[in-house]
Amino acid sequence: MVNKLSWSTWDELQQSALRCTACDLGATRTQVVFGSGPKSVRLVIIGEAPGAEEDRQGFPFVGRSGALLDRLLNSVGIGRAEVYIANVIKCRPPDNRNPSAREIATCRPFLEAQLEFLRPEIIVPLGNFATRFILNTKVGITKLRGQIIDLPAGSMGTPPHLRAVVIPVLHPAAVLRGGEAAFSRAQVDFAVIAQTLSSLLAS
Ligand code: URA
Repeated sequence: MVNKLSWSTWDELQQSALRCTACDLGATRTQVVFGSGPKSVRLVIIGEAPGAEEDRQGFPFVGRSGALLDRLLNSVGIGRAEVYIANVIKCRPPDNRNPSAREIATCRPFLEAQLEFLRPEIIVPLGNFATRFILNTKVGITKLRGQIIDLPAGSMGTPPHLRAVVIPVLHPAAVLRGGEAAFSRAQVDFAVIAQTLSSLLAS
């Protein structure tokens, strides 16, 4: 059982995630991919699950999807040093299959606790799994992408003091599959993220 009430510091949370064997992925992973980036950030990006390269290196978005994510961020003037990146589940599903409902539920307290510590003002879920996690919605990413959505205070187990907007975008793996046309569409959504971030920085 993963119990988030037992973590009073970020380090306790991280150590608990790194030791976790609460679901079957504990037996097949190489490394737990907890997340990366500075802890004082306004923007948190949430992916789905580690892939092969992330499982090898222990950091999120270090493979092909990561290179594309960097390209999209850089194209709108955002560097990795300005964002914290984490995934809905912390361990790689074998053969990069979709995470199961049980794996997501078991891992859920880790990401919820990360968000409670980080208190981002902008949350960017990449793709359907992360968008569903954050917004508890059945509406698909193709409808929601690029929209600025208020995260209701106290939703998804976050405390009332977490006020944030959510800007869902396509998962970089989907952008990769769609080629340059999909890249251009994704750039439009990343421009929304950059505008929202710069208006926060100016306020
Ligand atoms: N895809 C994800 O969703 N997360 C990663 O960390 C890498 C690829």
